[in-house]
Amino acid sequence: MPQNQPHFYRGRFAVAPMLDWTTRHCRYFHRQFSRHALLYTEMVTTQAIIHAKYDHLDFDLAAPPVALQLGGSDPAQLQHCARLAEQRGYQEINLNVGCPSDRVQNGMFGACLMAKAELVAECVQQMQQAVQIPVTVKTRIGIDDLDSYDFLCDFIQKVQQAGCQEFIVHARKAWLSGLSPKQNREIPPLDYERVYQLKRDFPHLLISINGGIKTLEEMQRHLQQVDGVMVGREAYHNPSLLGYIDQALFDADAPIVTPRQAVEKMFPYIENQLSQGVYLNHIVRHMLGAFQQCKGARQWRRYLSENAYKAGAGVEVVETALGFVEE
Ligand SMILES: Cc1cc2nc3c(=O)[nH]c(=O)nc-3n(C[C@H](O)[C@H](O)[C@H](O)COP(=O)(O)O)c2cc1C
Repeated sequence: MPQNQPHFYRGRFAVAPMLDWTTRHCRYFHRQFSRHALLYTEMVTTQAIIHAKYDHLDFDLAAPPVALQLGGSDPAQLQHCARLAEQRGYQEINLNVGCPSDRVQNGMFGACLMAKAELVAECVQQMQQAVQIPVTVKTRIGIDDLDSYDFLCDFIQKVQQAGCQEFIVHARKAWLSGLSPKQNREIPPLDYERVYQLKRDFPHLLISINGGIKTLEEMQRHLQQVDGVMVGREAYHNPSLLGYIDQALFDADAPIVTPRQAVEKMFPYIENQLSQGVYLNHIVRHMLGAFQQCKGARQWRRYLSENAYKAGAGVEVVETALGFVEE
């Protein structure tokens, strides 16, 4: 870990924002594994917040730290949403400058904003002016043919001048046309060295690295070079990994949390949510990967998939599924 940074940097370990995946139920589940992991919401667009019929900012029941990721490029709207988010108790506002989907480009936000550093700077400045909590930016190392290291530095330089001190960098470029969002998470090659170089050239900024990170050993290695690691797909598909994070990355005395413990800690939450009309399936679909390494994992998944969607399904479905698993 670079010197002169606090040991407990909030973003030392984060679960990435993932649309449809890191819902509030998923975040609550992940929190049972780790007290310290920084949990990101799915991206929420400013349009959705401002015009929607229901409350997208929803009070977050997962314990802090939780970061709200915003999608948008209208500085005034972003400022409005940032203010609301701070009032709701989020610990960080993050601007999405990394998502390459067409839908996102039409709305002029996401990765295409890498080509509009001045606009991103203006957005950051407006948000930072309105809130006390940090405003951070999640970005790629480049887009299309704008993929030189100088281009990346120029982007970071302009945005930091507007007051952004923390960047999360997905260590691959995005192709804005021709590749689907999924392909854009797999085909452009990872270039971790570029992110390390960024930290060396901007030592006063907090830089987190993202993309393809799967193990504690990989995280430890990255943390020799940068301030934080962000993990997306592996955390979602194999959440038991999160049970080791507190001890490995934050506090040697912290307990390791087993998947069974995390699932059992979900029972009161599940009962409470069901009593408010939430369907069991909406919660447990994020828990299917919990026992990936264990005997009985397949029966766990199958039992939940076949039963959690049924009308009236309650916490006993999860208890029965748990009976199949040997840890
Ligand atoms: C299903 C899914 C949805 C995603 N949605 C978002 C999103 O809303 N905002 C965002 O910045 N990135 C999003 N991403 C990208 C992730 O945050 C992350 O940058 C990417 O998956 C690379 O990290 P990983 O290799 O650890 O998964 C999404 C990824 C996945 C798999």
